[in-house]
Amino acid sequence: MTDRPVVLIPRKLTAAVLERANENYNVIVNDDDHVFPREELIAACQNVDAVLPCHSEHFSADVIAALPDRLKIIANHSVGVDHVDLDAAKARGIVVTNTPDVLSDATAEIAILCMLGAARRGSEGDRMVRDGRWNFWSPAFMVGRQVTGRRFGVLGMGRVGQVTADRARGFGMEVHYHNRSRLSPDKEKGAIFHDSVESLLAVSDVLSLHCPTTPDTIGMINADTLAILPDRAILVNTARGALVDEDALIAALKSGRLFAAGLDVFRTEPGGNPELASLENVFMLPHIGSATFETRDAMGFRALDNLDAFFSGGAPIDRLV
Ligand code: DGY
Repeated sequence: MTDRPVVLIPRKLTAAVLERANENYNVIVNDDDHVFPREELIAACQNVDAVLPCHSEHFSADVIAALPDRLKIIANHSVGVDHVDLDAAKARGIVVTNTPDVLSDATAEIAILCMLGAARRGSEGDRMVRDGRWNFWSPAFMVGRQVTGRRFGVLGMGRVGQVTADRARGFGMEVHYHNRSRLSPDKEKGAIFHDSVESLLAVSDVLSLHCPTTPDTIGMINADTLAILPDRAILVNTARGALVDEDALIAALKSGRLFAAGLDVFRTEPGGNPELASLENVFMLPHIGSATFETRDAMGFRALDNLDAFFSGGAPIDRLV
């Protein structure tokens, strides 16, 4: 079947996703799951009609310029698309899609894990027991912050932000949010809208980041904005590391002004930030917000839905470019 589109899948996807991909496409997979360096990514794309990458494949403007004319669509296996230069793709006439909705529950779970891990000193306690250093108990031992009844600030009230807000309501938290536009009352569910980032930050006992990385949002959590948070607030980031100035975050954590941070994403990935890792009041995970069996299938299927729509001459539902 030579007329089937050829699709490059550069990372290891689930068996169910690969099985479905093989039904309609001639699939090229990267069997050992290594991250293609720039040159290898370009080379691997030369004889394909489509690519189904993750956020680990960087389609910068120069990579996109080197793609062949036959490659017509980048169907991402991610909701975030900061790894793709959308303007460059548009200029080349390459369609770009993502996978919204299907990862909102999984990512909200990780946001709540990060909140609780930070508030209740999860990493510190785990390390202490694991390392055999737990030789003491007192009412004054390992005391953390209770989140029940506190104010939960959501920066970016999109799909993940809304589900995370729902979960926070389960802890009796009062939800506040800032978003480019105010939500309708049925989506707002009583959450308090703030028309500026500063106004939101001033009331956020816990601040959870859920906005995309854009030139406007890169570094938006910095020394100035961290200073607006209430004393001993908690920062949660499950969106993208680039939103946060990590040096300013480290300073706020060291000074105690910020009680703790729960982070699933970092400026440098993989790897993270060794100085953040040296602080007891940071709860950290290795970018696993969407990493559940159910969600990995759903993300792959959603990316395939977009490919199917494109190659059948329809409109992919998640078309960004
Ligand atoms: C996303 O979908 O953007 C997640 O961060 C995983 O890539």
